[in-house]
Amino acid sequence: TDQSGFDTDVWTLTRFVMETGRQAKGATGELTQLINTMLTAIKAISSAVRKAGLAHLQGLAGSVNVTGDDVKKLDVLSNDLVINLLRASYSTCCMVSEENKELIITPKDKRGKYVVCFDPLDGSSNIDCLASIGTIFAIYKRTTEDEPTEQDALQPGKNIVCAGYALYGSASLVAISTGAGLNFFTLDPAIGEFILTERNVKIKKKGKIYSLNEGYAKYFHPSINEYLKHKKYPEDGGAPYGARYVGSMVSDIHRTIAYGGIFMYPANEKSPKGKLRLLYECNPVAFVIEQAGGIATTGTQRILDIQPEALHQRVPFVAGSPDDVNEYISFVKKFQ
Ligand code: AHM
Ligand code: MG
Repeated sequence: TDQSGFDTDVWTLTRFVMETGRQAKGATGELTQLINTMLTAIKAISSAVRKAGLAHLQGLAGSVNVTGDDVKKLDVLSNDLVINLLRASYSTCCMVSEENKELIITPKDKRGKYVVCFDPLDGSSNIDCLASIGTIFAIYKRTTEDEPTEQDALQPGKNIVCAGYALYGSASLVAISTGAGLNFFTLDPAIGEFILTERNVKIKKKGKIYSLNEGYAKYFHPSINEYLKHKKYPEDGGAPYGARYVGSMVSDIHRTIAYGGIFMYPANEKSPKGKLRLLYECNPVAFVIEQAGGIATTGTQRILDIQPEALHQRVPFVAGSPDDVNEYISFVKKFQ
């Protein structure tokens, strides 16, 4: 067979991370170690999400697996994977997971200087219908030398040293940034590596799609309904925006970066702070969006500037193409 299409100098994500690590001044390789470990966890989650080892994941004929244990649900399995692997990477001092109420403190003999906040499997309502789901993570350097406490994790998003997400969609993809632009890597299942597929990704200045759970319109602030009306019945006679909402943040955000437009999870009467969590959903995604030239805001404040107060705090979240998000902000201002 013809092997001429085979890239013999391929840029894997592992290579990319190593290379960027090498170029950083005073780097010890600890961050490289951490990111590579996160990628291993992501590959394992991707494999589980694709139901590789179907019998192992579901048990052959029932809901009980061969050992007689209840089968671990995909989100619990993903959480265990990330925690166990990161703990064994000797690069973390503590972690925050959507699945754990408390701060996860790394045993003393395995500690390193980084803090990782993550949502191991976001979009859980999409798991059973096989729609796309994802993993989200943000990495910070710890600020103290003492025993790790919540304070180490309660840093504003602007302190992020690396953040990204994995999307388990029609292909598995990692979007990742260490603050020098955003890159996309797609999993090549044949070699089990993420391959650089788009370098220095930029979001469109303005898109044609709006994305939110409009079923909550009854509970929205009038400014939001006014904005949505403007998208559907443009006063200037322009074409209305298309509507897309997967209900899985990573998918909705990835589409927003790829095609342009606006994603919103605003506050509503039932959820006065919205639904999405600042530390492991909004901050990493806001970092990635800004690296692509987009904007991420609560409507009144830049997401990355928020000083967090609690591990699982929620914030209203709006992100996407700069012109679209600025227009949204102008509607918020009109009603203040
Ligand atoms: P989860 O962490 O329980 O999966 O919830 C987060 C998800 C996001 O991925 C998505 O943007 C949002 O919840 C959808 O919420 P809703 O069903 O209210 O539209
Ligand atoms: Mg989540």
